[in-house]
Amino acid sequence: MAAPDSIRRLLALWLVIPLLTLILISAIPGYFLAVRAANDAYDNGLLDPATAIANYVRENEDETEVKVPPAAIEALRIDTIDKIFFQVTGPDHEVISGNAVIPNPEIAMDNTGQSVYSAMIEGEAVRVAAISIPRRNGNVLVQVAETTLKRDRLVHDILVGAFTPAILVAFVAVILFWFGIRRALAPLDELREQIRSRTPGELSPVSDSGAPLEVRPLVGAINDLLARLAEALEAQQRFIANAAHQLRTPLAGLRTHVELMRRETSGNGSPALIEMIAGETERASHLANQLLTLARAEPGSSLPIARVPMDLRDLVSQSAQAWVPRALARDIDLGFDLKEARILGDPQLLRELLANLLDNALIHTRSGGHVTARTRLDSGNPVLEIEDDGPGIPEAERERVFERFYRVAGTNTEGGGLGLAIVREIADRHGASIALLTPSSGKGLLVRISFARLPAV
Ligand SMILES: Nc1ncnc2c1ncn2[C@@H]1O[C@H](COP(=O)(O)OP(=O)(O)OP(=O)(O)O)[C@@H](O)[C@H]1O
Ligand SMILES: [Mg+2]
Repeated sequence: MAAPDSIRRLLALWLVIPLLTLILISAIPGYFLAVRAANDAYDNGLLDPATAIANYVRENEDETEVKVPPAAIEALRIDTIDKIFFQVTGPDHEVISGNAVIPNPEIAMDNTGQSVYSAMIEGEAVRVAAISIPRRNGNVLVQVAETTLKRDRLVHDILVGAFTPAILVAFVAVILFWFGIRRALAPLDELREQIRSRTPGELSPVSDSGAPLEVRPLVGAINDLLARLAEALEAQQRFIANAAHQLRTPLAGLRTHVELMRRETSGNGSPALIEMIAGETERASHLANQLLTLARAEPGSSLPIARVPMDLRDLVSQSAQAWVPRALARDIDLGFDLKEARILGDPQLLRELLANLLDNALIHTRSGGHVTARTRLDSGNPVLEIEDDGPGIPEAERERVFERFYRVAGTNTEGGGLGLAIVREIADRHGASIALLTPSSGKGLLVRISFARLPAV
C-alpha cells in the first residue's frame, strides 16, 4: 500500500525542489555575467603591460629585437595573486623573447591590433592580452598572459553576493510555509479531537466555529453524515423496540394458554412437552423484554434519560421484595447492606440495571450461595454493588461479557446474553463506570457501578 501523501512531502516536492532548481537555473546566466564582469574589470589592466613590452620592440635592418629591461620584467611580477607570463613572436611565429610558451591566438585582432582572449598554459587557465605590431616583413606579436585567480575570486564573490540572499529567502519561505501549513491544519486537528472525544452514541453536529472557509464544507459533510447516521440509528432502534413490543403480546398470550393447558391436562396428556413449551415461551418473552429494554436504554432512543434526584438505597430496598422469593426458590441467601447514596438518575432505567445485575447473581450462582446488594459512598462517589460467591467471570472475559448476545462459554444457565449490555448502556447514559471485580473472599463476582457525585448545592 502506498504511504498516504503527507502535506509536508508535497511541500518538499512542490516547493523546495522547484525553488532550488529555479535558483540553480538562474545561477547559470548569473555565472556568465559574473565572468564577463570579471574580465571587463581586469582585461584593460592586462593590456597595459602588453603595450609596455610592445614599446621595447626595435627593428634593425635584418632582425627584430626586443630588449625588455629587467625592471619591466620585475614589474610584471608585482601582481601578488596571479602569475604573469609574456612572449614576443616574430612574423614566422619564432619566439623572440619571453618567459613562457603562449600558443598563438586563434582569434582575429581588432583594427587596433589588440585582443584579449582565454587560453591554457601548462594546464592552467589564463587570460591573454595580445598586441600585434605591423613590421616590414610581417607582424610581431606581443602577448601577456595572466592566470585567472583574481577573476575567479571576483566571479565567486559576485555569485555568492547575488545568490546567498536568494537562497536565504527560499529557506525562510520554506520555513514560513511549513509553519503556515501547521497553522492551517490546526483546525483539522481540533476537528479530529472534537470527533474523537465523542462517545459512540453522540451524533450531534460538530461545531464549525473557528474552522477556516476551506474546512467548513468538510465539517458540513461530516455533519450531514452524522445526521444521517443518527437517523439510521434511531430507525434501527425504533424497529427493534417495535418488533420486541409486537412480540410481547403474542408471547404473553402463549404463556397464558400454556398455563391453561397445564391445568387442564394435569394427570394426563404429556406434561414434559408442556413444560418444555412453557420454558421456551418464558425464554422468548424474556428475550423480547431484554431487547425492548436495550432499545430503550440506547442513547439514540427517542426517550430522553431523566435526571431525577434519587437515592440508590431506596431504589434497591423498593425492589428487594420482588427478589426475595426468587432467592428463596434457589436457596440463595440474599442480603442487603444499604447506605445513603444520592444521585441524579432515571429511576426506570436504573431499576432495569439493578434487575439485570440481581438476575445474573441469582441465576449464575449455585444454590446455597450468597448474594449481597450494597449501596454506599465510596470516597464521595455513590456506588451500587452486587456481589455473589458463584463461579465469577474469568479475567479474560470481563470485557467481552458486555457485548450483546455474548455469554461465557460453558454457561449452562438460561439467558440470551443481553443483560450486561443493558447494564452498560444504562451506566453509560448516567456517566457511571462499571467494574467487574473479584470479591475479597477470592470467589464469585463483584459488580461495582460508580456514579458521579452530586453537584454541591
Ligand atoms: N454474576 C455472574 N456470575 C458468573 N457469571 C456471570 C455473572 N453475570 C454474568 N455472567 C456471565 O456473563 C454472561 C453475560 O451476562 P449477561 O447478563 O449479559 O447475559 P445472560 O445473563 O446470559 O443473559 P440475559 O441477561 O440476557 O438473560 C453470562 O452468560 C455469564 O456467562
Ligand atoms: Mg443476565
